[in-house]
Amino acid sequence: MNIILLGPPGAGKGTQAQKLVDGRNMVQLSTGDMLRDAKTSGTEMGNMVAAVMDRGDLVTDEIVIGLIREKLEAGGDHGGFIFDGFPRTLAQADALGDLMSEMGQSIDHAIELQVNDDILVERILGRAADAVAAGGTARADDNEESLKTRLMAYYKQTSPLLGYYYAKGDLTGVDGLGTMDDVASEIAGVLG
Ligand code: AP5
Repeated sequence: MNIILLGPPGAGKGTQAQKLVDGRNMVQLSTGDMLRDAKTSGTEMGNMVAAVMDRGDLVTDEIVIGLIREKLEAGGDHGGFIFDGFPRTLAQADALGDLMSEMGQSIDHAIELQVNDDILVERILGRAADAVAAGGTARADDNEESLKTRLMAYYKQTSPLLGYYYAKGDLTGVDGLGTMDDVASEIAGVLG
Protein backbone atom coordinates (compact mmCIF):
# COMPACT_ATOMS: atom_id res chain seq x y z
CA MET A 1 0.00 0.00 0.00
CA ASN A 2 1.32 3.45 -0.95
CA ILE A 3 -0.04 6.56 0.72
CA ILE A 4 0.43 10.31 0.57
CA LEU A 5 0.13 12.49 3.67
CA LEU A 6 -1.02 15.95 2.67
CA GLY A 7 -1.41 18.97 4.90
CA PRO A 8 0.07 22.33 5.81
CA PRO A 9 3.21 22.80 7.93
CA GLY A 10 2.59 21.45 11.43
CA ALA A 11 -0.42 19.33 10.40
CA GLY A 12 1.31 16.23 11.75
CA LYS A 13 2.54 14.56 8.54
CA GLY A 14 5.92 13.54 10.00
CA THR A 15 4.40 12.43 13.30
CA GLN A 16 1.81 10.21 11.63
CA ALA A 17 4.29 8.87 9.06
CA GLN A 18 6.50 7.68 11.91
CA LYS A 19 3.55 5.88 13.52
CA LEU A 20 2.83 4.10 10.24
CA VAL A 21 6.48 3.10 9.88
CA ASP A 22 6.40 1.60 13.38
CA GLY A 23 3.03 -0.12 12.97
CA ARG A 24 3.04 -1.32 9.37
CA ASN A 25 6.65 -1.73 8.24
CA MET A 26 6.15 1.04 5.71
CA VAL A 27 8.93 3.30 4.41
CA GLN A 28 8.68 7.04 5.07
CA LEU A 29 9.84 9.25 2.21
CA SER A 30 10.06 12.79 3.58
CA THR A 31 11.48 15.26 1.07
CA GLY A 32 11.86 17.78 3.92
CA ASP A 33 14.12 15.36 5.84
CA MET A 34 16.10 14.52 2.69
CA LEU A 35 16.67 18.20 1.93
CA ARG A 36 17.62 18.98 5.56
CA ASP A 37 20.13 16.08 5.48
CA ALA A 38 21.66 17.48 2.28
CA LYS A 39 21.83 20.92 3.89
CA THR A 40 23.50 19.63 7.05
CA SER A 41 26.05 17.54 5.17
CA GLY A 42 26.85 20.53 2.96
CA THR A 43 26.40 18.80 -0.39
CA GLU A 44 26.29 21.01 -3.47
CA MET A 45 22.54 20.50 -3.68
CA GLY A 46 22.17 21.16 0.08
CA ASN A 47 23.98 24.48 -0.24
CA MET A 48 21.87 25.37 -3.23
CA VAL A 49 18.53 24.83 -1.45
CA ALA A 50 19.45 26.14 2.02
CA ALA A 51 18.31 29.74 1.58
CA VAL A 52 15.09 28.74 -0.20
CA MET A 53 14.15 26.32 2.59
CA ASP A 54 15.08 28.71 5.38
CA ARG A 55 12.77 31.40 4.06
CA GLY A 56 9.96 28.88 3.59
CA ASP A 57 9.67 28.70 -0.19
CA LEU A 58 9.46 25.49 -2.19
CA VAL A 59 12.58 23.92 -3.69
CA THR A 60 12.40 23.23 -7.45
CA ASP A 61 10.32 20.31 -8.72
CA GLU A 62 13.37 18.94 -10.52
CA ILE A 63 15.36 18.54 -7.30
CA VAL A 64 12.64 16.90 -5.23
CA ILE A 65 11.45 14.61 -8.02
CA GLY A 66 15.08 13.50 -8.45
CA LEU A 67 15.33 12.70 -4.72
CA ILE A 68 12.14 10.65 -4.77
CA ARG A 69 13.12 8.82 -7.95
CA GLU A 70 16.40 7.74 -6.32
CA LYS A 71 14.61 6.37 -3.24
CA LEU A 72 12.00 4.51 -5.28
CA GLU A 73 14.67 2.95 -7.48
CA ALA A 74 16.48 1.66 -4.38
CA GLY A 75 13.60 -0.84 -3.94
CA GLY A 76 13.52 -3.08 -0.84
CA ASP A 77 11.09 -5.35 0.97
CA HIS A 78 8.50 -3.40 2.97
CA GLY A 79 4.82 -2.67 3.41
CA GLY A 80 4.73 0.30 1.02
CA PHE A 81 5.70 3.94 0.83
CA ILE A 82 4.42 6.88 2.86
CA PHE A 83 5.01 10.10 0.95
CA ASP A 84 5.43 12.83 3.59
CA GLY A 85 5.59 16.35 2.18
CA PHE A 86 5.69 15.12 -1.41
CA PRO A 87 4.09 15.86 -3.82
CA ARG A 88 3.65 19.60 -3.19
CA THR A 89 2.89 20.84 -6.72
CA LEU A 90 0.82 19.50 -9.60
CA ALA A 91 4.04 18.80 -11.56
CA GLN A 92 5.31 16.67 -8.64
CA ALA A 93 1.97 14.83 -8.45
CA ASP A 94 2.11 14.00 -12.17
CA ALA A 95 5.74 12.85 -11.82
CA LEU A 96 4.84 10.65 -8.86
CA GLY A 97 1.99 9.08 -10.84
CA ASP A 98 4.42 8.31 -13.68
CA LEU A 99 7.06 6.86 -11.34
CA MET A 100 4.47 4.65 -9.67
CA SER A 101 3.15 3.33 -12.98
CA GLU A 102 6.70 2.60 -14.17
CA MET A 103 7.00 0.40 -11.07
CA GLY A 104 3.61 -1.23 -11.73
CA GLN A 105 2.25 0.39 -8.56
CA SER A 106 -0.17 3.15 -7.64
CA ILE A 107 -1.16 5.52 -4.87
CA ASP A 108 -3.84 3.88 -2.73
CA HIS A 109 -4.74 6.79 -0.46
CA ALA A 110 -4.06 10.51 -0.22
CA ILE A 111 -4.85 11.60 3.33
CA GLU A 112 -5.34 15.27 4.10
CA LEU A 113 -4.59 16.18 7.72
CA GLN A 114 -6.92 19.08 8.50
CA VAL A 115 -5.72 21.61 11.08
CA ASN A 116 -6.60 25.29 11.30
CA ASP A 117 -3.92 27.97 10.95
CA ASP A 118 -4.00 29.14 14.62
CA ILE A 119 -3.08 25.65 15.80
CA LEU A 120 -0.42 25.23 13.10
CA VAL A 121 1.29 28.42 14.25
CA GLU A 122 1.04 27.31 17.89
CA ARG A 123 2.57 23.90 17.08
CA ILE A 124 5.44 25.20 14.94
CA LEU A 125 6.43 28.03 17.25
CA GLY A 126 5.99 25.64 20.19
CA ARG A 127 8.40 23.18 18.56
CA ALA A 128 10.94 25.97 18.09
CA ALA A 129 10.60 27.09 21.71
CA ASP A 130 10.93 23.47 22.97
CA ALA A 131 14.11 22.94 20.91
CA VAL A 132 15.71 26.07 22.34
CA ALA A 133 14.56 25.25 25.90
CA ALA A 134 16.21 21.82 25.53
CA GLY A 135 19.50 23.52 24.67
CA GLY A 136 19.32 22.83 20.93
CA THR A 137 18.51 25.01 17.95
CA ALA A 138 15.16 25.42 16.27
CA ARG A 139 14.64 24.43 12.65
CA ALA A 140 15.78 27.40 10.56
CA ASP A 141 12.27 27.73 9.06
CA ASP A 142 10.37 27.40 12.36
CA ASN A 143 9.91 31.14 12.91
CA GLU A 144 6.99 33.49 12.31
CA GLU A 145 8.27 34.97 9.06
CA SER A 146 9.24 31.71 7.35
CA LEU A 147 6.07 30.06 8.60
CA LYS A 148 3.99 32.74 6.86
CA THR A 149 5.78 31.91 3.59
CA ARG A 150 5.39 28.15 4.18
CA LEU A 151 1.64 28.58 4.73
CA MET A 152 1.32 30.75 1.62
CA ALA A 153 3.22 28.15 -0.41
CA TYR A 154 0.87 25.47 0.92
CA TYR A 155 -2.33 27.30 0.05
CA LYS A 156 -1.10 28.51 -3.33
CA GLN A 157 0.97 25.62 -4.69
CA THR A 158 0.00 22.51 -2.70
CA SER A 159 -3.71 22.82 -1.88
CA PRO A 160 -4.69 22.32 -5.58
CA LEU A 161 -3.56 18.72 -5.03
CA LEU A 162 -6.64 18.17 -2.86
CA GLY A 163 -8.82 18.56 -5.97
CA TYR A 164 -6.37 16.48 -8.00
CA TYR A 165 -6.58 13.46 -5.68
CA TYR A 166 -10.29 13.97 -5.00
CA ALA A 167 -10.93 13.69 -8.74
CA LYS A 168 -9.04 10.39 -8.75
CA GLY A 169 -11.17 9.12 -5.83
CA ASP A 170 -8.11 8.77 -3.60
CA LEU A 171 -8.60 11.67 -1.15
CA THR A 172 -9.79 11.33 2.45
CA GLY A 173 -9.82 14.20 4.94
CA VAL A 174 -8.85 13.41 8.51
CA ASP A 175 -9.33 15.69 11.51
CA GLY A 176 -5.79 16.50 12.61
CA LEU A 177 -6.82 18.34 15.76
CA GLY A 178 -7.16 15.39 18.13
CA THR A 179 -4.32 13.81 20.07
CA MET A 180 -1.61 12.14 18.02
CA ASP A 181 -3.14 8.75 18.88
CA ASP A 182 -6.65 9.90 17.90
CA VAL A 183 -5.35 11.03 14.53
CA ALA A 184 -3.47 7.74 14.09
CA SER A 185 -6.70 5.79 14.81
CA GLU A 186 -8.60 7.82 12.24
CA ILE A 187 -5.90 7.13 9.66
CA ALA A 188 -5.94 3.44 10.53
CA GLY A 189 -9.70 3.49 9.90
CA VAL A 190 -9.11 4.88 6.42
CA LEU A 191 -6.36 2.41 5.55
CA GLY A 192 -8.26 -0.61 6.90
P1 AP5 B 1 8.86 19.77 5.46
O1 AP5 B 1 9.93 19.22 6.29
O2 AP5 B 1 7.99 18.85 4.69
O3 AP5 B 1 8.04 20.73 6.42
P2 AP5 B 1 6.48 21.13 6.51
O4 AP5 B 1 5.56 20.63 5.49
O5 AP5 B 1 6.50 22.60 6.66
O6 AP5 B 1 6.01 20.34 7.71
P3 AP5 B 1 6.54 20.09 9.18
O7 AP5 B 1 7.58 19.06 9.15
O8 AP5 B 1 6.84 21.36 9.90
O9 AP5 B 1 5.16 19.60 9.80
P4 AP5 B 1 4.42 18.20 9.75
O10 AP5 B 1 3.10 18.34 9.05
O11 AP5 B 1 5.31 17.10 9.30
O12 AP5 B 1 4.10 18.06 11.29
P5 AP5 B 1 4.97 17.35 12.42
O13 AP5 B 1 4.55 15.94 12.56
O14 AP5 B 1 6.40 17.67 12.20
O15 AP5 B 1 9.44 20.81 4.41
C1 AP5 B 1 10.37 21.80 4.79
C2 AP5 B 1 10.82 22.60 3.58
O16 AP5 B 1 11.51 21.73 2.66
C3 AP5 B 1 9.72 23.23 2.73
O17 AP5 B 1 9.31 24.48 3.25
C4 AP5 B 1 10.43 23.37 1.38
O18 AP5 B 1 11.35 24.43 1.38
C5 AP5 B 1 11.22 22.08 1.31
N1 AP5 B 1 10.46 20.96 0.71
C6 AP5 B 1 10.12 19.79 1.32
N2 AP5 B 1 9.44 19.01 0.49
C7 AP5 B 1 9.33 19.69 -0.68
C8 AP5 B 1 8.71 19.41 -1.92
N3 AP5 B 1 8.04 18.25 -2.12
N4 AP5 B 1 8.78 20.35 -2.90
C9 AP5 B 1 9.45 21.51 -2.71
N5 AP5 B 1 10.06 21.84 -1.56
C10 AP5 B 1 10.00 20.94 -0.54
O19 AP5 B 1 4.41 18.13 13.70
C11 AP5 B 1 4.69 19.49 13.93
C12 AP5 B 1 4.66 19.75 15.45
O20 AP5 B 1 3.33 19.50 15.92
C13 AP5 B 1 5.58 18.79 16.24
O21 AP5 B 1 6.12 19.49 17.32
C14 AP5 B 1 4.62 17.68 16.72
O22 AP5 B 1 5.05 17.08 17.91
C15 AP5 B 1 3.33 18.46 16.91
N6 AP5 B 1 2.13 17.63 16.65
C16 AP5 B 1 1.94 16.76 15.63
N7 AP5 B 1 0.72 16.19 15.71
C17 AP5 B 1 0.13 16.72 16.81
C18 AP5 B 1 -1.14 16.53 17.43
N8 AP5 B 1 -2.06 15.69 16.92
N9 AP5 B 1 -1.42 17.24 18.56
C19 AP5 B 1 -0.50 18.11 19.07
N10 AP5 B 1 0.74 18.33 18.53
C20 AP5 B 1 1.04 17.65 17.41
